[in-house]
Amino acid sequence: MRATEQAEQLNDHMVTGLVRDGVIPADSAVDRAFRTVKRHWFLPGTDLDQVYANVAVVTRRRPDGVPISSSSQPAIVARMLQQLDALPGHRVLEIGAGTGYNAALLGQLVGPDGTVTTIDVDPEICAAAEGHLQVAEASNVSVIRGDGWAGVEEHGPFDRIEATVGVWDLSTRWVEQLKPDGLLVAPLWLRTGLQASVAFRRRNGGLKAASIEPCGFMTLRGPGAGDAGYEQIGGWTVSFDEPSPTRAALLERLLPTPPRTGPAPDLPAGWFTRMALIEPDAVHLFSLGRDGPVVGRGVIDASVPGLAVIVSDPRGANTVQVFGGEEVGGRLLRMIGSGPPIELRNLFISAVRAGEPVDEHQPLVTLTRPNFRFVISGN
Ligand SMILES: C[S@@+](CC[C@H](N)C(=O)[O-])C[C@H]1O[C@@H](n2cnc3c(N)ncnc32)[C@H](O)[C@@H]1O
Repeated sequence: MRATEQAEQLNDHMVTGLVRDGVIPADSAVDRAFRTVKRHWFLPGTDLDQVYANVAVVTRRRPDGVPISSSSQPAIVARMLQQLDALPGHRVLEIGAGTGYNAALLGQLVGPDGTVTTIDVDPEICAAAEGHLQVAEASNVSVIRGDGWAGVEEHGPFDRIEATVGVWDLSTRWVEQLKPDGLLVAPLWLRTGLQASVAFRRRNGGLKAASIEPCGFMTLRGPGAGDAGYEQIGGWTVSFDEPSPTRAALLERLLPTPPRTGPAPDLPAGWFTRMALIEPDAVHLFSLGRDGPVVGRGVIDASVPGLAVIVSDPRGANTVQVFGGEEVGGRLLRMIGSGPPIELRNLFISAVRAGEPVDEHQPLVTLTRPNFRFVISGN
C-alpha cells in the first residue's frame, strides 16, 4: 500500500476512534475537519503509527530534555475545538502554533470566509509550521512570530481565541482583543498537577466558564509565564505552584529512598481534583516509563518528614507508596476519604480582573494571579 493511502486509513481509524469514544460528535464540523486535515503533514519524519496513535508527539526539547513544543494529543485537540466552537466566517487567534496542525484544523472550521492567526515565540517552530501549512494548503492561516501573551492586535478583534500552551493567568490583551460574547479557551494551571482547558465566555465585561475539560500542557514561555512550573527531581517531573526550594530539597532527599508499597484503596473519580484544590500540601509527580506515563499524586509533609503518593502505572493499576515517615501514609488515606470528590467538568469558574469586585459568596477556592482572580465553586 502506498504511504499516502496508509496514512489516510490510519487517520480515518484514529478519527473513528475519537467519535466512538464520544470525544467528537459524528458528522460534526470537528469530525469533518479531522478527516480532511492529515496529522502526518505536520509531523514529517515521525513514524505513521505514532502519528496516528492518539498520543502527544514532542517535536522540540530544551537541552536538559524538557519538552518545549509538541503536537498535542488528538483527543485533547478535539475536545478543545469542541469547546471553542469556531464557526464559518470567524476570525480566530491561536497562541502556540507548534506544528501548525491545530491551526489547519481551525482553518477548516472557519472556512474560506474566516481567518486564523497563529503565533509562536520560537522562529524555527514558526518556519516549520509555515511549511506544514503550505503542504496542507491552509491558505486562510497566517503564522506570526512573537510572544503570544501580547495577542495580535492588528489581526483582531477575534471571535475566538485559543491558547494551546499552558497558562497560569490570562493576558489582559487577549480579553481586549476578544469580541463581546466571544470565547477564549485556555489550558489553565489551577493547582499543582491540576490543569483544565477552560472555555471562558466574555459577557458584560466579565469572563465565565462555559465548559471545562481536563488537560495537560507544557507551560507558556516568556514574561507571561508566571510562577508555576515543573522541576526534574529524582527521575520525576514535579509540578510546583511556585518555586519551592524547601519542598524541592525534601523531595530530592525522599524520592531516592526505597518506598513502602501497598495496595491502593478504592479511588473515587475526582479525588485528586478535590485534594489539589483545597490541600496546600498536595503533590503531583510524572515520569515517562517504557510502557507509558507513570503518575504519582498525593501529599508531602515536611513535619514528618514524608511523602505519600498513589502511583498509577500505564495500565491504570494503583499502589500507595510511602517515602520517609509512615504517618504521612495515614494522612493521605484520611484525606482521600474525608470529603466528596470533585468532578472537574462540573466546577464553576469565573475570571475577575484584579481590583474588581467578586460576586461569588462562598467559593471553594479563589486563585489570585496578577491579572485575574479565578473564583472556583464546587459541584
Ligand atoms: C503544545 S505546543 C502547541 C501545539 C500546536 N497548537 C500544534 O497543533 O502543533 C505549544 C507551543 O507554544 C509555544 N509557546 C510557548 N510560549 C509561547 C509564547 N509566549 N507565545 C507564543 N507561543 C508560545 C511553544 O513554542 C510551542 O510551540
